[in-house]
Amino acid sequence: MAPPPTPGERRLLRIRGLTRSFREGTRVHRVLEQAAACIGTGEVVAITGRSGSGKSTLLNLISGIDAPESGSVCIGATEVTALGEPQRTLFRRAHIGFVYQFFNLIPTLDVIENVRLVMELNGARAGEAQERSRAVLAELGLAGRERSAVDQLSGGEQQRVAIARALVHRPALLLADEPTGNLDEATAAEVLPVLLAAARTRGATLLIVTHDAAVAALADRVLELRDGQLHEHARA
Ligand SMILES: Nc1ncnc2c1ncn2[C@@H]1O[C@H](COP(=O)(O)OP(=O)(O)OP(=O)(O)O)[C@@H](O)[C@H]1O
Ligand SMILES: [Mg+2]
Repeated sequence: MAPPPTPGERRLLRIRGLTRSFREGTRVHRVLEQAAACIGTGEVVAITGRSGSGKSTLLNLISGIDAPESGSVCIGATEVTALGEPQRTLFRRAHIGFVYQFFNLIPTLDVIENVRLVMELNGARAGEAQERSRAVLAELGLAGRERSAVDQLSGGEQQRVAIARALVHRPALLLADEPTGNLDEATAAEVLPVLLAAARTRGATLLIVTHDAAVAALADRVLELRDGQLHEHARA
């Protein structure tokens, strides 16, 4: 197991020279080219950029789901890009939480089973996993829904379950890929503050991919992905 992120360090995430391309027939499409960024512990950062600019690719590299051709990603004291795949998986499970656009809940598991699964995979005791899952669900306004089937919940409720799942193992880093992209405007306006508040109360770093200017306005920083690189937006 890789060493955990160093607590109390001001910088949580460092990306250097990150390069990733995909082959399309005979052509090579360079999606990220020497992308770089430094993100502090507890920062909420919006990642913007046109469709196809490489936002999801970037998150996959940060979380170690994918590996770059060159460059590095460090999370706390761990260079994720130097780990082999099994170690990256263990590191991801222990230290990263994800929220996806289409929720990605497991339909055969009920609400609390979806939430506690990551803790079980991390080897937590069943009682502790159950207790922590119940507490996070209650915090997100889902007390009493623990045994519901996930497909019986509204979109906003399903996304709150997904947020609970992302938080329950207390990750240092939260990655959200258009978390409100599949919700109507009113529901998005409800769910988004829940995610931001949860990250901020925990001091977790949150990277949130978004097309929504309102989301970007709530972030501490905005990084735009353009021409394979991250560009910092000046804030008013
Ligand atoms: N596994 C893959 N194989 C081939 N090409 C890929 C793969 N993953 C991503 N790409 C290509 O890389 C580019 C960036 O994709 P990516 O999904 O990262 O964009 P995005 O910014 O997340 O877009 P969107 O806003 O539409 O979600 C696209 O041109 C896409 O087709
Ligand atoms: Mg995407």
